[in-house]
Amino acid sequence: MSELSESVHLEKRGEVALVIVDNPPVNALSHHVRQGILDGIDAAVADDEVKAIVLTCRGRTFIAGADISEFGKPPQGPPLPQVQAAMENSPKPVVAGIHGTALGGGFEVAMCAHYRVAVGSARFGFPEVKLGLLPGAGGTQRLPRVVGAAKALKMVTSGDPIGADEALADGLIDEIVVDHEAGAVAFAERAVAEGLPLKRLRDLEDKVTADRANPGQFDEFRASIARKTRGFIAPEYNIQCIEAAVDLDFDAGIAREQELFRELVTGTQSAAQRYYFFAEREAAKVPDVPRDTPQLDIQTCGVLGAGTMGGGIAMNFANVGIPVTIVERDQASLDHGLSVIRKNYERSAARGSLPADQVEKRMALITPSLDRGDFAQSDIVIEAVFEELELKRSVFADLDSICKQDALLATNTSALDVNVIAASTARPESVIGMHFFSPANVMKLLEVVRGDKTSDQIIATTMALAKRINKIAVLVGVCHGFVGNRMLFMRGIEADRMILEGATPAQVDRVIYDFGFPMGPFAMSDLAGLDIGWKEETSTSSTVRELMCESGRRGQKNGRGYYTYDPETRVATPDPEVEQMIRDFGVGKGIEQREVTDAEVLDRCLLPMVNEGAKILDEGIAIRASDIDVVWINGYGWPVYTGGPMFWADTLGVDAVVDKIESYHADLGGDHWAPAALWSKVRDSGTPLHTVTSGT
Ligand code: CAA
Ligand code: NAI
Repeated sequence: MSELSESVHLEKRGEVALVIVDNPPVNALSHHVRQGILDGIDAAVADDEVKAIVLTCRGRTFIAGADISEFGKPPQGPPLPQVQAAMENSPKPVVAGIHGTALGGGFEVAMCAHYRVAVGSARFGFPEVKLGLLPGAGGTQRLPRVVGAAKALKMVTSGDPIGADEALADGLIDEIVVDHEAGAVAFAERAVAEGLPLKRLRDLEDKVTADRANPGQFDEFRASIARKTRGFIAPEYNIQCIEAAVDLDFDAGIAREQELFRELVTGTQSAAQRYYFFAEREAAKVPDVPRDTPQLDIQTCGVLGAGTMGGGIAMNFANVGIPVTIVERDQASLDHGLSVIRKNYERSAARGSLPADQVEKRMALITPSLDRGDFAQSDIVIEAVFEELELKRSVFADLDSICKQDALLATNTSALDVNVIAASTARPESVIGMHFFSPANVMKLLEVVRGDKTSDQIIATTMALAKRINKIAVLVGVCHGFVGNRMLFMRGIEADRMILEGATPAQVDRVIYDFGFPMGPFAMSDLAGLDIGWKEETSTSSTVRELMCESGRRGQKNGRGYYTYDPETRVATPDPEVEQMIRDFGVGKGIEQREVTDAEVLDRCLLPMVNEGAKILDEGIAIRASDIDVVWINGYGWPVYTGGPMFWADTLGVDAVVDKIESYHADLGGDHWAPAALWSKVRDSGTPLHTVTSGT
C-alpha cells in the first residue's frame, strides 16, 4: 500500500490496482483527493504488473461531490477534468466501485471510468442545481448520452438522486454487487480476462442523435417546471447544457458547460445557495449543549388538539412510524381532525406521492381519544390547543400530573411565553417549544424554543427528534413571536401603513411575489383567515382588518378578503371596493395619499425585518445570523437564491442597509425602525452580517 496524498492511497491485489479515497465525512473532491486520484491512475498505468484499475472509497460513501467549501477560493491541485481525462484515456480498464452516494462531481468522476458497479443501496444524482450550479465536469454532456435528454433534463433540474436499480436499467451502472470494493475488483479481473472494451461514455452518440429529431422537447420541459423554478437561474442553465449535448459535438458541449458553470459559480444566486447549504447544517449544532448529551428514547407521541396544527403534527410522527395518541376536547372536533388527516393522506395517495397501502398503515398509527389520561405513557406530548395563555397554563398543569416523569412536554405556541407555560408545571426543565409551521405536515421548519429552565437533555432530544421527523430545526430563545413571527410582525406593520398612504394590497403583494416569495402579506392574511383573533363584540373599526371583518370579509375561506376569490378556481382578483375602503380609512386618518413606488414597498417590507433580525441577534434569541436565514427560507418561503434576510442584506451592503434604516426611522418613526445596536458593531468590525453569531 502507498500513500498518494493525505486522503488517497494505492493498493495492489494481484493484477488490479485500487485507488482508494478516504476523505471523511463524505469523500468530497478536495484538492488532495483530485491530486491523489490523478497520481494513483498515473502510477497504475505506469506499473507493468497492473492490468486494471479500481476507484473506490472508504467510509460511509463514494465521492459525494466537489468540496463545496473550495468554491470561490483560489484553485489548488489539478483541475477535475485532468483527473477525469486520466481515467477515461487510461489504456487499462478503470472500474468504479460505488457505495453510499455518487453525487455531483463524484458521479462525474465515476462516469469517466470505463465501467461502474455499485451496491444495491447506492444512489446517484446531480444535486448541483440545489447549489445554484450545474454539473460542471462533463455531467451534462455524458448523462444524456446514456439516458437521453428527457431523463437527463429531469435529473439535472430536480437534483434528486436515483437508486441503483434505476441506474442499472438506465445503463448508468453495469452491475449491482454485494460489496463495492470486492465487486469492483472481481469486475476488473473479468474485464481483463474477457478483454472487455474500454467504454467511454463520451463516445456514445445514439441517444443524442435521436434527441436531435425532437427539438421541441426543451421548451415543453421549460414550461413544465416554470412555476417551480421561478426566479432561479440555474435550472435554465442546466437545460441549456443538455440542449448543447444534443446540438453540439462533445468538446463544444463541454466548452458550453464550462462557460455556463463559470457564470453560475461566480454569481450571487449560487453563493447564496452554497451559503444556505452550510447554514442548514450549522443550525443543527447547539454550542452550549455537548454533542454527546444523553437523549430520551422517543418511541411514542401524544398530541393535544386535533385542529389545523395538531393534525399536521400527528402526521409527522405517523409518517416515520412513531405511534401517536391524539386527544381532543369533544367527539365532533376529534372526528373532524381525524377526517382531515385521512383526507390529506388520501390526496397524497391519489397524486401518487404516497403508496396506496400507506394510507391505512399511517392512520392505524394514530389513536384518537378524548382522555388526556391516555398520555400517561407517552414519551413526548405536544400541545396544540387554542393560542390562549391561561388555557395553555391549565393544560400544562394537567399534563404535569398525568405524564410520566421523564416525558418531554412541548408547546406549539406561535408567540406566547414558553417560560410562563413551563412555570405551570413542577418540571419546567422538561418543557420546550416546538413551533411547527402551517401546514405542519408539509413545512420543513421547526423553531425549537428553549425556555430559561429547559434542560440540555430536552434540547438535545428535540433537535434529534426534529431530524427524525424530517424537519429542519432551529433553536431559538423566548420572545414574542420567536424569530420568524417576530420579524413577520415588522413587515406587517409597514405593509399596513403603506396601503393607508396610497399603495394597494395588490401592489404590495406583487412586489413581494416578484422578489421571490410564494405570496405577499395580504394574500397570506387572506389565506390564514382575517378573523383570527377578531371578536365582533370588541371590534371598533379602528384598523383596516377590523373594518374588513365587520363587513363580512373573512379571507379565502368565504371568498372575500383583500381580494375576491373565484369560488371554483380560487383565483384572486383585486377588489375595488376594498381599495376604496382602505383609501377612505387613510384619508379619514388625515394621511396624505400619494404614489408609493415599488422600490419603497420592497424597502419598507424587508428592511424592518433585517433590522429586527439584528435585534434578535443582539438579544441572543437566535444563535447565529445564518439561523435566521434558515428560519425565513424554510418557514416563510424567502427565496433561497437570495440567501435569506441576513445574507441578502450583505449583498446590498450593510452600510447602505443601515443608512436606509436610519433614514426611514427619521421619516416614518416607529420602534421597529430604531436601528439595532448590532449595526455599529458590524460596521466597525467589517464582519459580514451573515457570519455574525449572537454575543459577537
Ligand atoms: N463539500 C464539502 N462538505 C460537504 C459536502 C461537500 N460536497 N457534502 C457534505 N459536506 C459536509 C457537511 O457540511 C457536513 O459537515 P459537518 O458535519 O461539519 O456539518 C458533513 O459533510 C456531513 O454532511 P450531512 O450532514 O449532509 O450528511 P448526510 O449523511 O445527511 O448527507 C450527503 C450526506 C447526501 C452527501 C449530503 O451531505 C449532500 O447532499 N452533500 C452535498 C452533495 C452535493 O451537493 N454534491 C455536489 C457538489 S457540487 C459539484 O460537485 C460541482 C461539480 O460539478 C464539480
Ligand atoms: P385550531 O383552532 O385549528 O385547533 C385547536 C384545537 O384545539 C381545536 O380542534 C380545539 O377543539 C382543540 N382544543 C382546544 N382546547 C382543548 C382542550 N382543552 N383539550 C383538547 N383540545 C382542545 O388552532 P391551530 O391553528 O391548530 O392552533 C393551535 C396552536 O398552534 C396555537 O397555539 C397556535 O398559535 C399554534 N400555531 C398555529 C399556526 C397556524 O398557522 N394555524 C402556526 C403555528 C402555530
